[in-house]
Amino acid sequence: MAKPKRRYVCTECGSVTTRWQGQCVDCSQWNTLVEEAPETPFSAKHDLSGGGRRIAFEALDAPTEPLTRRGTGLAEFDRALGGGLVPGSAILMGGEPGIGKSTLLLQAAAAMARAGASAVYVSGEEATGQVRLRATRLGLADAPLRLAAATSVRDILTTLAAGPPPALLVIDSIQTMHSDLIEGAPGTVSQVRASAFELIRYAKENHVALVLVGHVTKDGSIAGPRVLEHMVDVVMSFEGERSHQYRILRALKNRFGAVDEIGVFAMEGQGLAEVANPSLLFLSGREEPIAGSAIFPALEGTRPVLVEVQALIVRLQSGATPRRAVVGWDSGRLAMLLAVLEARCGLSFSSAEVYLNVAGGYRLSDPAADLAVAAALVSALADKPLPLASVWFGEVSLAGEVRPVVHPGVRVREAAKLGFDLACGPPDPPAGASAKAYAGLSTLAKLVDRVMAAT
Ligand code: TYD
Ligand code: MG
Repeated sequence: MAKPKRRYVCTECGSVTTRWQGQCVDCSQWNTLVEEAPETPFSAKHDLSGGGRRIAFEALDAPTEPLTRRGTGLAEFDRALGGGLVPGSAILMGGEPGIGKSTLLLQAAAAMARAGASAVYVSGEEATGQVRLRATRLGLADAPLRLAAATSVRDILTTLAAGPPPALLVIDSIQTMHSDLIEGAPGTVSQVRASAFELIRYAKENHVALVLVGHVTKDGSIAGPRVLEHMVDVVMSFEGERSHQYRILRALKNRFGAVDEIGVFAMEGQGLAEVANPSLLFLSGREEPIAGSAIFPALEGTRPVLVEVQALIVRLQSGATPRRAVVGWDSGRLAMLLAVLEARCGLSFSSAEVYLNVAGGYRLSDPAADLAVAAALVSALADKPLPLASVWFGEVSLAGEVRPVVHPGVRVREAAKLGFDLACGPPDPPAGASAKAYAGLSTLAKLVDRVMAAT
């Protein structure tokens, strides 16, 4: 029999090669290939077109059970899930260490247990004493939650098989789990995949909602468990700056619903508090107009969120290469906007350092932020504050035109409701906006004129 070949698996993307290399050919990450146990040699006949069971085909309109959902007891969590947990579904909860995943899931599991659903929380990272201490601090110690510290998938499934299946099973985290069906230490790609496979199978067969916690590396990909993204039904990401209070729960993939709604939480001494109306959260609450600050009416799903964009420009005396630093926005997009402002409006940033910050630890991904960033930059460069009660939105093209964006009306109305009586955006005003409350800007040059004219 031929000797089984060596096998190297990328811990980032899961691709397999037979030769070790410094860089993965598929995802281009460095030093991510690790050797894994070779696949068992397969001696059965390679013809698969016989000897199996016959499967039945069904019509698309065959009767289906309606999708039932169960609330988690945390409305913001339910919102991000698209309406609650679906029994028999697997959810991957990604996030950086310390962001609050364990806290969120302990709160949700305890709330469900209090409401009469059976919930199991298995921690592979903390001793039960530690989890209990946290539950006491959060005022949840009385919830009839079943808690265990375990890392063996066989032990966990044996225990669960002995009783009625729970409504919710939390595994914190999948990187600590171990399946004895295959070799390898917990956290290796094959272990993570095998452990998840067994747990997901149990969840599907028993209509259990399963949540797998997965740690995320600094570049935002779920390390190792990234290979789980296609095995689970829902991929969620819990985001925020650890130094700030606010946390955003986002679905990156959802087989049972839309992925555009977010859940907003604040990390407080008593755990995560839900923030039902986030529109004013990310404003710094300033009372005097400051140059370099612009308010952007962002949209998260159906909810508007007002965000403050801050720019600082420092002129350099020497010929040193000026720095560009961005927090909360894409640095490539900033470079593009600076280039457009130089090429189309004649402004010069080449000998100046540019710093851009989105207040409150918020991360902007809405392309409509371009105009607000441009307004903050021009305002900082000219040292002219924008009107205190103004908001700015619109996408900017390489030609320097301001392009229309989705839901301008929702943005303008929310801003007006919160006392921002001037909205500057793409040339066509949204329906119902008065000429006094809306300024359409066709190009970035018009924006520059407007900022320069401000007093
Ligand atoms: P945790 O849920 O352990 O994060 P993760 O599971 O994602 O690694 O939360 C860790 C942080 O949250 C911790 O550093 C302290 C903070 N925290 C609070 O501020 N208030 C609280 O009530 C709790 C439980 C945690
Ligand atoms: Mg944790």
